[in-house]
Amino acid sequence: MNQLLLRSKAMETREETILTRREAVTGCHDRLHGGDMDMTGWVDLPETLNGEELKSLKNAGNEIRHRHSALVVIGVGGSYLGTRACYEALTPQSQGVKLFFAGWNLSGRYHEKLLRELDRHDAALCVVSKSGTTIETTLAFDLLKDYMKKRYGRDFARRVYAVTDPKKGALREEAEKMGYQTFALDENIGGRYSVLTAVGLLPLTAAGYDVEALLRGAAKAENALNTADLSKNDAYRYAVFRNLMFEEGKSIEFFSFTEPEMIRFGDWLKQLFAESEGKDSKGIYPSVIGYSTDLHSVGQFLEEGNPVFFETMITLGHHTIDLTADGHEHGYNRHIDSVAEAVYRVRNEKGTPITRLTLTSLDEEHLGYLIYFFEKACAMSCMLMNVNPFDQPGVEAYKRELRALLSEE
Ligand code: PA5
Repeated sequence: MNQLLLRSKAMETREETILTRREAVTGCHDRLHGGDMDMTGWVDLPETLNGEELKSLKNAGNEIRHRHSALVVIGVGGSYLGTRACYEALTPQSQGVKLFFAGWNLSGRYHEKLLRELDRHDAALCVVSKSGTTIETTLAFDLLKDYMKKRYGRDFARRVYAVTDPKKGALREEAEKMGYQTFALDENIGGRYSVLTAVGLLPLTAAGYDVEALLRGAAKAENALNTADLSKNDAYRYAVFRNLMFEEGKSIEFFSFTEPEMIRFGDWLKQLFAESEGKDSKGIYPSVIGYSTDLHSVGQFLEEGNPVFFETMITLGHHTIDLTADGHEHGYNRHIDSVAEAVYRVRNEKGTPITRLTLTSLDEEHLGYLIYFFEKACAMSCMLMNVNPFDQPGVEAYKRELRALLSEE
């Protein structure tokens, strides 16, 4: 059965133009798969993540799951967004730790509440930073280490897990000195493409999720999308379509969701597309909306406002739960499906380009497929736009500025 179904009248009407990009797509595909392009370690990762590596991170994840009741994932950007997306979208397969997230903001109020909440748990930390020098992560880690030292004494280091660069960075040095259990991040995989590495797999195992199913789904996508043939590769068709949208002057893409639990997946998508594509004054701004709530607020703009956008709606094909109120012939799922269909129709009537992606089911395997689908589509979309999908000079400039400012103080 197909994991993901794509439906788009807007793409069908542009079919001929889409096919004119065949040669460009083949060129980019060959570069992505050629093995010479930097930061493409994620391309064949789902198939190649080797047995030993997976085994050791699953062992550590299960150790956390059995020994503790809470795990604080400390990280920002690509170091936590994917984990949070999976954590909120999926249902764990077995009892696991509760995940908390720190370092993605610098609010004293937020972190004070978090510490109070931790008092009620047996806590462990998972600090994630590829560079090992990100200020937000470092500051939150310092705060949480302090808490752990006070609560558990010198032994606290046994409760700390670090995911970072295999050789360099302040976090690597500290981890070695303190004896934290560490996991190496592949140097050839950037933060926003790293959810299927220890970055996501370690905390998700600890939280009771089936990470092998996540990888299995991604491997299915890797196989299905490993062709430059546009008639067989929906990720590439969608990437070409996005480029056409950009050329037609559409500067915003609304990712809309009918399942509220998928909204954090939207946050992961925002980073993936904005940080990969927003360069050289190019790129489409990714925005996230949830249905039905936003149909009763920004819905007005979407219907009659400035037509600078197109929409990519992500819905579910199969619902495992349905609810029916007494006296109603149909359950909730019929209603949610009708909302999606109404939106699809109304956008098409108005001439607003909309693509509907239906995920057959919401479980680890299907989400793994969706993650890989978007990673592949995003990389192709950037390359067709002639921007580097894997660097983030703008983010690095902000990091440098913050570091300079803090050292002045
Ligand atoms: O995708 C990226 O490269 C960034 O968003 C990083 O993930 C983010 O800035 C955090 O960096 P680091 O993992 O080095 O702490």
